[in-house]
Amino acid sequence: MSDTKKIAVLPGDGIGCDVIPEAIKVMQAPRAAVAFTEFDWGADRYLKDGTTVPEGGYALLARDFDAILMGAFGDPRVPSNVHARDILLGLRFRLDLYANVRPIKLLDPSLCPLKNAKLEDVDFVVIRENTEGLYAGVGGVFKQDTADEIAVQEDVNTRKGVERIIRYAFEYARRHGRKSVLMADKSNVMTHAHGLWQRVFKEVAKDYSGIEARHMLADALALAMIREPRTLDVIVTNNMFGDILTDLGAALQGGLGMAASANLHPGRTSMFEPVHGSAPPLAGKNKANPMGAILTSALMLEHLGMTREAERIEAAVLEAVRQKKTTEDVGGSLGTKECGEWIAAKVAGR
Ligand SMILES: NC(=O)c1ccc[n+]([C@@H]2O[C@H](COP(=O)([O-])OP(=O)(O)OC[C@H]3O[C@@H](n4cnc5c(N)ncnc54)[C@H](O)[C@@H]3O)[C@@H](O)[C@H]2O)c1
Repeated sequence: MSDTKKIAVLPGDGIGCDVIPEAIKVMQAPRAAVAFTEFDWGADRYLKDGTTVPEGGYALLARDFDAILMGAFGDPRVPSNVHARDILLGLRFRLDLYANVRPIKLLDPSLCPLKNAKLEDVDFVVIRENTEGLYAGVGGVFKQDTADEIAVQEDVNTRKGVERIIRYAFEYARRHGRKSVLMADKSNVMTHAHGLWQRVFKEVAKDYSGIEARHMLADALALAMIREPRTLDVIVTNNMFGDILTDLGAALQGGLGMAASANLHPGRTSMFEPVHGSAPPLAGKNKANPMGAILTSALMLEHLGMTREAERIEAAVLEAVRQKKTTEDVGGSLGTKECGEWIAAKVAGR
């Protein structure tokens, strides 16, 4: 039986189509045992035939593939963003990819906007709940387009959902030799929802005696990410706070072009995507930074058990950053393709 892992590739829209081919090029350099099947889901397909996700699409990906690699979704020609919602949120919810893992690691001090930042100052990971909270789509509008309009968006927090993400964070800390797990919430004002997070966090923490359990309010954490990022290790938080705080985290590591993420459900087909969106003004101009997508592919290979290949890719990206073989957003002068080619050559030992 072949050990080759099957990867579904969805480049998506905008710069997703620029950066994903570079990630593939780089994964082929160490001869990683992966086979790619590309899908055309995205704005072009939607505008052509109205399809967002074809019939049976979610089940197909979950059944026939070991992992999914995605670019980004969002196109000004589709103002409703319906295709992005069906594809991106659809996959997260339907495949129950409850853990969004976003490492925030500084590769070179020159990339950090903080004064006198050192490498060891920025090295933490945010684990964001990915299937509930304010993004669950529960709510509605009443008396729309009248002066009396009411819009309600419910914050959904289930015992099961909260417990599994907190447990995932502690397990992650244990597996990666991390010392603390910090939960960020707004339990001072969101007493019902985040009261649940508080109770579950204290309970789960008891099972992990070697790992320090910390708590901060999400707004205080935003301040700490700038003032004392060195004190942070593993952070666990809800869907919306995780979304916002990881953009701040991306800024600490050099911007959205550098940030990688994984959407996981242990034991199931999981999905990997750079943190950035489709950046329409950059699309097709050979300007987008492919490093977020390339580091994402390293996360995916590590998840699939190809640790050595993942380490070679991370080392090559680090070297590219040090030698300024980068795109303009992080201080270099290479195009998307040239940057991808440089990293692929480094990985291949050329
Ligand atoms: N996961 C996703 O698919 C995802 C995430 C965020 C936004 N979006 C969508 O993307 C579209 C654009 O959204 P936005 O502008 O708010 O966010 P964006 O991430 O696309 O871009 C924000 C800023 O970051 C810069 N940037 C982002 N990625 C970069 C890269 N790889 N290299 C260099 N610079 C980079 C862009 O120039 C822009 O200034 C919207 O349709 C939005 O809904 C999709």
